Amino acid sequence: MEKKASHFSGQLGFVLAAAGSAVGVGNLWRFPYLAAKDGGGLFLIVYLALVLTFGFALLVSDIAIGRRTKQSAVSAYTQMHPKWKFLGILTFLVPVLIMTYYAVIGGWVTKYAIIYLTGASEAAAADNYFTAFITSPVSPVIYALIFMGVTAFIVYNGVQDGIEAVSKWMMPVLLVLVAVIAIYSMTLQHTDGNGQVRTGLQGLQYYLTPHVEGLTVSRFLQILLDAMSQLFFSLSVSMGIMITYGSYMKKNNPLEKSVRQIEIFDTCVAFLAGMMIVPSVFVFSGGNEEALSKGPSLMFITLPKVFDNMTLGGVIGAVFFLLVLFAALTSSISLMETNVSIVRDKFGWDRGKGTVIVGIYVLLMGAVVSLGFGPLSFIKILGFGILDFFDFVSNSVLMPIVAILT
Ligand code: PHE
Repeated sequence: MEKKASHFSGQLGFVLAAAGSAVGVGNLWRFPYLAAKDGGGLFLIVYLALVLTFGFALLVSDIAIGRRTKQSAVSAYTQMHPKWKFLGILTFLVPVLIMTYYAVIGGWVTKYAIIYLTGASEAAAADNYFTAFITSPVSPVIYALIFMGVTAFIVYNGVQDGIEAVSKWMMPVLLVLVAVIAIYSMTLQHTDGNGQVRTGLQGLQYYLTPHVEGLTVSRFLQILLDAMSQLFFSLSVSMGIMITYGSYMKKNNPLEKSVRQIEIFDTCVAFLAGMMIVPSVFVFSGGNEEALSKGPSLMFITLPKVFDNMTLGGVIGAVFFLLVLFAALTSSISLMETNVSIVRDKFGWDRGKGTVIVGIYVLLMGAVVSLGFGPLSFIKILGFGILDFFDFVSNSVLMPIVAILT
């Protein structure tokens, strides 16, 4: 079978593909906003401590399971012991759910990358631009379709010629781009209406200083919880992805060294993302902490306004959304590959058939998620909109269960 023969060409290919999965919108948008919200340097220290302990253990165990069994997530758990089959199924549900909304967010990123690359950045900075876009019934679905089409094409090309080939150039480029913008944001300076001057370096200081004033136990626990959920999401652990990629790793590639490299890559990008976003927003929002702490709107509403105010903002914005696109794409590939490998193991399909069927599923569900912002916005589950509900079930319910049981 072609499946058994598919593997990464060597350690570098494996590490870059796994880092491609790990580095995603979570690093570029969730990490900076959590850091800004959770006491700057304090969050950084807590997160780093978790990466070095928990994160390391989780990543090693996921990859080791894959490397040893050479199976997709569901069959890997079943092979270890039939009683673990339910764990495989729980694990499998995580990427099944995440994929649907990752496709939608990937579509938004594609749209913004295209706007900035075609020089229409001013439009994106207008009030209500983002809301008008995501609530419209057709356009966001089409962008999700484009994003998923590219993902499916790469997955269809297989482990070495698709996933590895793409990750090998996208990941290094991404690292350089994020570092360039991070350095650029150190040089920013802006005088607001009151004559108050704010600089990028002050923003950096805000980001790095551990803000412990008035810290209570419950607040600390909240920070710990935020860091923990960020860790699972960012490392793509406990969702079958690293099992799948581990199953394509050659037996003689070093496990712990690879995990260290993946973690260093992932954490560096998250740290640099904070360095590029926190100071930029700090400088242009007049040090307003509110603006920094906002979730999704940070990337699609606040940043376009920041770029609009910045010298060379159009170019920086284009570079920024391009790198976000690369990050989202390599993560989306890993989600799709995980699902494709599971249905192939289960039904014996070839790669083409698996890719097409998973692709159709994602598009149909993705369309529902997308419409959840527009025509279907009346649908609320436990008070959540559709996207937030899927996010809640996968990240706050299933993933912790899987992590605790493994
Ligand atoms: N690890 C990715 C990130 O940080 C998110 C992701 C989750 C990717 C699940 C794939 C699967 O954004």
